[in-house]
Amino acid sequence: MAEIIAGIGTSHIPPIGAAMDNGKTGEDYWKPFFEGIAPAREWMAKTRPDLCILVYNDHASAFSLQSTATFSIGVADRFPPADEGYGPRRVPTVDGDPALAWHLAESLVLDEFDMTIVSEMPVDHGLTVPLSILFGQPDAWPCRVIPLAVNVVQYPQPTGNRCYKLGKAIRRAVEAYPQPLRVAIVGTGGLSHQLQGERAGLINTAYDIDWLDRLVNDPESIRHIGHTEYLRETGSEGIEAIMWLVMRGALHANVSEIFRYTRVPVSNTHYALTILENRGR
Ligand code: DHB
Ligand code: FE
Repeated sequence: MAEIIAGIGTSHIPPIGAAMDNGKTGEDYWKPFFEGIAPAREWMAKTRPDLCILVYNDHASAFSLQSTATFSIGVADRFPPADEGYGPRRVPTVDGDPALAWHLAESLVLDEFDMTIVSEMPVDHGLTVPLSILFGQPDAWPCRVIPLAVNVVQYPQPTGNRCYKLGKAIRRAVEAYPQPLRVAIVGTGGLSHQLQGERAGLINTAYDIDWLDRLVNDPESIRHIGHTEYLRETGSEGIEAIMWLVMRGALHANVSEIFRYTRVPVSNTHYALTILENRGR
């Protein structure tokens, strides 16, 4: 049977990808950051999951406000990097896993999650920057990826609790898949940031760290946090953090945090990365 072996949370800040693509990782601004995340890359290289379910949001690259899907799953063979205004990133095309993706779509819909099934989509920084963070600059991504997009852009976004429950349904679906795949689930975005308006530049480090501690050790205590609290405490884009709740919901109640790195600021954002392994059930 397939199994979720670990969960990873990481911000998906676009300048991290740009620093890598443009050879700037050794510059003063970036050097400590890339040194800081190095253990996560080592862990990925050692652990080598067969597949990542990557929970991210599209930033009006593949989708537009013409139609807004709450949860979407990519069932294609391949997902090319999106052109976000400067040409597509020169990173490998993402290989999907249509068989598992269709199994997930069926299982999640029968489990009463209304997934939008997407058979063609380019993937933007929300997905490619986490891959760059975790895998560096290989000629091909070392594992297959199933993109799972969450609407965090257009109100009304799903609640954190809905995301947490989706994670639990993803775990059930993966564990019912008859192939012996080792699956990692990645939640992306956040933590606090606001890119526009009067409070542009807002970062709330104390709130983020407390939230992250609770995500690891007491997720039940944060699953019901509402949109208004995220907006007030973490800025207009801080709501991206609900995607980490999908990841956490897919893991066991007890996890070990085997790595954490945070840095304030990276670009406009409180950067955070955590790697969680299942403990017990
Ligand atoms: C930044 C962070 C994001 O999550 C994003 O989608 C775009 C920009 C930033 O900090 O620059
Ligand atoms: Fe974002």
